[in-house]
Amino acid sequence: MSGSLHGKRALITGGHRGIGRAIAEAFTEAGAVVAIADIEGAEVAAKEIGCGAIGVACDVRSADSVAAAVQTTTASLGGLDVLVNNAGVEVIGPLHETSEADFDRLVSINVRGPWLVYKHAVPALIDGGGAIVNIASISGVVAFPLLGIYSATKAALIRLTEAMALELRDHRVRANAICPGFVNTEMVARTSDVFGDITGMSFEQMVTQGQGEMAAPADIAGLATYLASDTASFVNGTAIVVDGGMNLRRV
Ligand SMILES: NC(=O)c1ccc[n+]([C@@H]2O[C@H](COP(=O)([O-])OP(=O)(O)OC[C@H]3O[C@@H](n4cnc5c(N)ncnc54)[C@H](O)[C@@H]3O)[C@@H](O)[C@H]2O)c1
Repeated sequence: MSGSLHGKRALITGGHRGIGRAIAEAFTEAGAVVAIADIEGAEVAAKEIGCGAIGVACDVRSADSVAAAVQTTTASLGGLDVLVNNAGVEVIGPLHETSEADFDRLVSINVRGPWLVYKHAVPALIDGGGAIVNIASISGVVAFPLLGIYSATKAALIRLTEAMALELRDHRVRANAICPGFVNTEMVARTSDVFGDITGMSFEQMVTQGQGEMAAPADIAGLATYLASDTASFVNGTAIVVDGGMNLRRV
């Protein structure tokens, strides 16, 4: 997809590592200039990516931090064409054992965060048209045991995506969600043992049975690049599952 994002200016939350980093690299490869907005490592990541990338410290839980990050991005890049709401966190465990603090943390980062960034980015996005890509999850489409709160936040993000698409259609801004299965990132690395302990099945076994093999961050970045590009000009308000067919398994 070389050149498909030529001239586009993109803001990617949580772009310092994992899926967000792969999206930042794929966008850059496709000709975009990117701003990495992350609670940690944003400037280092931007330096490693090069090609005019900038790093902006940003905690998506804080309205002031988000407002400043969007302002710095639009001032430095000269505007904004693409927003990727990627920053997200997980909690694993049975619903009835989850703490109120963990519930609030997840809602604040996974639901309120994307909404806040969107809210502050809209004036720049509607100035010339643009695209929003929200990183949800397959668990936002179907519930996963032990990921109940996380699933609920990702389902909420899919509904938000649909509302964004409808509300901004007349401004020529599209919004779509990507719903990955298991992707090889630190999020999976820090949770795989817990899954194993709770289910009694090895994490590798669970992934192999469900989706055949672990996805790579680049598998998600390819679709994000397409959705951000003008090639996807009539794709709006969708939630696209990228899970190697896991969701189809019934036996
Ligand atoms: N890895 C998977 O299997 C998987 C599957 C489905 C969906 N997802 C989603 O993909 C997105 C990226 O996940 P990942 O697997 O790359 O995880 P990761 O933990 O490797 O990366 C998450 C990134 O978000 C940043 N971040 C965390 N809290 C933040 C905050 N408050 N403000 C700003 N940045 C913050 C982190 O610093 C990090 O750079 C998340 O929304 C996650 O829910 C991941």
